[in-house]
Amino acid sequence: MADVQRPDAAPPPIIRRADYVPPAWRVPEVALDFMLDADETWVRATLSVVRADSGAGMPLALDGGGQKLVSLRVDGVPATWRTDGDRILIDLPGNAHRIETECVIHPATNTQLMGLYASGGLLCTQCEAEGFRRITFFPDRPDILSRYTVRMEADRATYPVLLANGDRINGGDLPGGRHWAQWRDPFPKPSYLFALVAGDLAVNRDRFITRSGRGVDLGIWVREGDLPRTGHAMAALKASMAWDERVYGREYDLSVFNIVAVADFNFGAMENKGLNIFNSRYILADPETATDADYDAVAGVVAHEYFHNWSGNRVTCRDWFQLSLKEGFTVFRDQQFSADQGSAAVKRIEDVRLLRAAQFPEDGGPLAHPVRPDSYIEISNFYTATVYNKGAELIRMMATMLGWDRFRRGCDLYFDRHDGQAVTCEDFVRAIEEGGEADLSRFRLWYSQAGTPRVTATLDHHGTAATLRLTQSLAATPGQPVKQPMPIPLRVALFGAETGRRLGEERLIVLEDAAAEIPFEGLAERPVLSINRGFSAPVIVETTRPAADLALLSAHDDDPFARYEALQQLMLDTILADLQGRIDHAPVIAAMRDVLGDAARDPAFVAEAVLPPSEAFVGDHLPAIDPEAVHAARERLRAAIGGALVDDWRGLHDRLKAGAYELTPAAKGGRRLRTIALSYMFAAGAADAAARAWAQFEAADNMTDRQGALAALASSDAAERPRALAAFYDRYRGDALVIDKWFSTQALSTRPDTLRAVIALAAHPDFTLANPNRVRALIGAFAANQRAFHQADGQGYRFVADMILALDPINPQTAARMVPPFGRWRRFDPDRATLMTAELNRILAVPGLSRDVFEQVSKSLA
Ligand code: ARG
Ligand code: ZN
Repeated sequence: MADVQRPDAAPPPIIRRADYVPPAWRVPEVALDFMLDADETWVRATLSVVRADSGAGMPLALDGGGQKLVSLRVDGVPATWRTDGDRILIDLPGNAHRIETECVIHPATNTQLMGLYASGGLLCTQCEAEGFRRITFFPDRPDILSRYTVRMEADRATYPVLLANGDRINGGDLPGGRHWAQWRDPFPKPSYLFALVAGDLAVNRDRFITRSGRGVDLGIWVREGDLPRTGHAMAALKASMAWDERVYGREYDLSVFNIVAVADFNFGAMENKGLNIFNSRYILADPETATDADYDAVAGVVAHEYFHNWSGNRVTCRDWFQLSLKEGFTVFRDQQFSADQGSAAVKRIEDVRLLRAAQFPEDGGPLAHPVRPDSYIEISNFYTATVYNKGAELIRMMATMLGWDRFRRGCDLYFDRHDGQAVTCEDFVRAIEEGGEADLSRFRLWYSQAGTPRVTATLDHHGTAATLRLTQSLAATPGQPVKQPMPIPLRVALFGAETGRRLGEERLIVLEDAAAEIPFEGLAERPVLSINRGFSAPVIVETTRPAADLALLSAHDDDPFARYEALQQLMLDTILADLQGRIDHAPVIAAMRDVLGDAARDPAFVAEAVLPPSEAFVGDHLPAIDPEAVHAARERLRAAIGGALVDDWRGLHDRLKAGAYELTPAAKGGRRLRTIALSYMFAAGAADAAARAWAQFEAADNMTDRQGALAALASSDAAERPRALAAFYDRYRGDALVIDKWFSTQALSTRPDTLRAVIALAAHPDFTLANPNRVRALIGAFAANQRAFHQADGQGYRFVADMILALDPINPQTAARMVPPFGRWRRFDPDRATLMTAELNRILAVPGLSRDVFEQVSKSLA
């Protein structure tokens, strides 16, 4: 609705890290009393407030989220307040008071899914970052730590289960079919970790004994019918608890740990103290409905949220600029956990693939920001790949430079020193420095400088010696025109060009300055450079190595990541040369033939290695992206690989046909490679590809095989394509998580008519803007399909912009997440850039935009 005269037409304020001031008032105790009802919930809050040292003469400021304040008492007496936007200000005479408020909120119409909201008959909360203020008036900032007591009262039939943080301490039945429960969390916590859930839930119960012998009751709460799908999450939870004891010496601290799965959730999951709330896609898994990747994601997210109990909850963030303090560290911890559970090499490859797909583009575009941002308009926009995944790389670099034992001593000091506090990234680095006996003074630049460093490497060989010349540079990013060199830890080894043998030991070279020269001696043969092994630093390495050297590393490097990387580089070079009219697929095919020799021994690694770099990644290496040309060149490479090795692919597709379904790493690797073999057969135009895909689809006893076959068919012209799509839909109709796959598989199709199909799917009765998973499945997947989104006539842009505008009034957080693909407009040809900025301007012109979308769109245009 056009609302041109809206009073808030001024741009929303910018919040700056430098403006941090400590709270004027503390809130040591909070008692909440909820009269729960989907339409109208009454919230009574009693806060004991204490004036802080810095609070002389300051009013008590309580944040609100637009809800109505019905009554306010100070020390039992009705009191007055002033309003300041959505905040209220209360002038208090003394240094300690009891504040009682009463307000009314409306969960059923809370479509933003922040605060208390309804999801499929449940009532649940999401408070991070600033949702608690939508529940009750409160100083909603993470440096206020309070002990919470929560009483909930509700209709017993509709909401038989009432959960909150900590332990259930009391409860019972009430007249009129109602009941109540009271929970108490003994640990002081910030408001963003508050949670409650009410609903008709079934529970998978288990028990964990900590290493000091305390028993913990574990519960995973889901809809009754979903109980059989909770086993994997429970196993992952117990494994995570044991892992954190063993690897970080961190034990769980409450006698209860509950997880609830909800269908409508803005992101992955939330680490509320003792009551994690999850997007159901990261809890529910069984072979029929979850792929192997889904299983891994469930375990990874369960671990992530569990690990937050220490890295996030026991030690939390002083302010939201410090978000990576908990997120970067916790992602690093969940990556380590997953690496320990399966193949560390494959896990590292997946993590780097994600970093390059999601974070490098962020760093290279208008939304670039440091791991510790300096300002924001809406904090929800900063739950980014930079804060999470690049943040994890920073922790990893520290661990690499210090070695595990010293790094672990630094972590111990961090947890011991700051237990129960709200601290900063600086506090973390200082603890690592002191506990690990290291000097990280220059390393801190990684927290403050945005952008992906570029490292050039040249190896000059003379006799039995060689010199490695390194330089580093960091391009300007918004607000940061000039940068300084940062310490870049590079694991480096040399290999003999004739024998493929490693020449000497691997070295850890920390490139501190803009340039360095590193001598090597005693080389028996010409050396080939293997650099940034294990992806020891999140940088772009520019080094010219001929195809033969890359093939040698692909065959002989003893670092699996470096092997993978060599073949990726060879494929990338091949596609880039093709784009300049020089087509030579032979070196890739030869190297790939070598790699396929390992298919039986390590199918999971081979599956990663033989996938060509994504179209987006190829685009990132071009001065101006022509999505059609990139697609065509990549397809030519796939066709060449498929055709030249078609007998190998066919052989693999036959041989990897599994017996009974198993979830072992070997079985998972086999399934992945088998479907990749199938897609190469399609790329080759093999006459039997479609029939094989259909047979795989039909015979599958698991979702990995079935969806893999469906995806291969979805990108084809085969007659089996519509049959498979219809059969898949019919089989899984009503299972939202699987129908999400049906949507995303079609949105990711490489067919030229994908946009038309996606527009039609947006009108499908199962499509809804109310469910973030469904939005991501269709719109998010489509926007990630480079060629389809960037269709030359701009209709892909128009469609996604329309969706952003339709979604913004419903769920601004999720709407804003679809903006960044537009921010890449400078990377495309002028016609596309014009079309993209036209859509950004069209969005920006709409009155009443959310802060979320306003920030992303206005920054994308800058
Ligand atoms: N802390 C949650 C997690 O680990 C995510 C919360 C996201 N919040 C948001 N407003 N986007 O990882
Ligand atoms: Zn997290």
